[in-house]
Amino acid sequence: MTGERIDGKAIAADLRAKIAIEAKTLIQEHSLIPGIAVVIVGEDPASKVYVASKGKSAKECNFHSIEHSLPEETSEADVLALIESLNNDDSIHGILVQLPLPRHIDESKVLNLIRPEKDVDGFHPINVGLLAAGERDKALVPCTPAGCLILAQRVLGDLRGKRALVIGRSNIVGKPMAALLLSAHCTVTIAHRHTQDLPSLVKDADIVVAAVGIPQMVQGDWIKKGACVIDVGINRIDAPERGEGKTRLVGDVDYDAAAERAAFITPVPGGVGPMTIALLMANTLTAARRSAGLDDLDFAALLADV
Ligand code: GUN
Repeated sequence: MTGERIDGKAIAADLRAKIAIEAKTLIQEHSLIPGIAVVIVGEDPASKVYVASKGKSAKECNFHSIEHSLPEETSEADVLALIESLNNDDSIHGILVQLPLPRHIDESKVLNLIRPEKDVDGFHPINVGLLAAGERDKALVPCTPAGCLILAQRVLGDLRGKRALVIGRSNIVGKPMAALLLSAHCTVTIAHRHTQDLPSLVKDADIVVAAVGIPQMVQGDWIKKGACVIDVGINRIDAPERGEGKTRLVGDVDYDAAAERAAFITPVPGGVGPMTIALLMANTLTAARRSAGLDDLDFAALLADV
């Protein structure tokens, strides 16, 4: 069996295009322009790339988009003051603070100050609690796991009763991913660095979501035949075969070997990554619509067959 490659890049592009149309309708019918503010503190090159692509995507979605790029030495008090002003700015419906923050700034203090209804990352304890309590429809849900769920549902349909294994227990991916799979009626296992006999858990799983940050850690022959493999990892490794000093991106799963057994598998790059930004746009549109008392859109249903 050679698994079908799940084209996250194409699905994300389709979703962004649908969001751009919905934003235009909101502007025309309700005079409401979805607004997003992205805050970055410091010079981390990877964060700068992410922030630039979030801004570009927001503009393509017809959103009002602002970026606050603050120097590394910005005080915690100044970051908190900026969040306060964005909380009170009616033209801004979504606030995202790019992580990691410099060490002298208390991350949870900053994230907890964002008004939950503007927390398009879904990291505020209110949103975490709503998701954990099964009240997803009232929450804003973290973008990466929300994107993974859309990909899994797209290829498998109803996930009810499936055995899902989430490898990784981060607040950004692992824990919300487990909550989302549970809300989709999967039987969910969470594995982490202290888990014993990971291969046997993988061998049992109909859905594997790998989010550990260890290059190609999940081996192909662990995968159950016919499983759906969602690889969240983005790891840069040396690629001497491409020439001296060259590198390449790989996921947390050994793609080639896993594709021999899986029915569906996401590539790296071009799988989960593009979905994260598309779901950030979706969350911003949701936050804007809720601010006007409008219903949430069903983004999975908006997607075409691409
Ligand atoms: N840094 C790495 N991933 C993320 C994310 O999903 N959101 C934010 N704000 N920062 C990140």
